[in-house]
Amino acid sequence: MQDLVIEPASNGDIDSIDEIEQHSFKSPWSKSTFEGELLREWARIDVARMGTRLVGFCNYWLVTTELHILAIATHPDFRGQGVARAVLDHVLDVAKKTGCSLATLEVRRSNRPAIALYERAGFKTVHVRARYYQDDGEDALVMLRGLTE
Ligand SMILES: CC(C)(COP(=O)(O)OP(=O)(O)OC[C@H]1O[C@@H](n2cnc3c(N)ncnc32)[C@H](O)[C@@H]1OP(=O)(O)O)[C@@H](O)C(=O)NCCC(=O)NCCS
Repeated sequence: MQDLVIEPASNGDIDSIDEIEQHSFKSPWSKSTFEGELLREWARIDVARMGTRLVGFCNYWLVTTELHILAIATHPDFRGQGVARAVLDHVLDVAKKTGCSLATLEVRRSNRPAIALYERAGFKTVHVRARYYQDDGEDALVMLRGLTE
């Protein structure tokens, strides 16, 4: 894989984040949602770049001692090259450094690539939220990982 740089997003990244979002999710969030995330004290978006190309991102919250991952996505042209793994490792590291002891997330029950990504990073399913997603009533798996080990 070409060198990957992972760093906090800025407003100039919103169009590229939106492009990846549109390619990646059934009910994509709007650009204004991501603009809002850049303003919230507890919210972060980190982006992965290969050269000048933005190839992936992760939107997450750091709330007291908890990391909550809202979204992670890789541009379809760059999937299967370890981008999400690198971004997730980076985010887990940031959370540990800020004193988080627990990481949580929800994922669609049918999203095998994402579930495999999270399991590979040490997350375990602890709960199923029935009909959690409003667009199609799909169940969510709630996954957790301790960050102190
Ligand atoms: C899930 C997603 C982020 C993975 O991104 P990626 O950059 O292609 O993933 P990586 O190449 O870093 O793969 C890391 C691990 O994820 C898992 N994985 C990734 N793609 C997979 C696939 N198509 N099938 C099964 N496992 C997969 C594997 O465990 C892989 O580890 P390995 O390479 O050692 O087998 C990407 O498919 C995506 O953007 N999907 C749409 C958005 C989404 O559903 N996000 C998750 C919910 S927020």
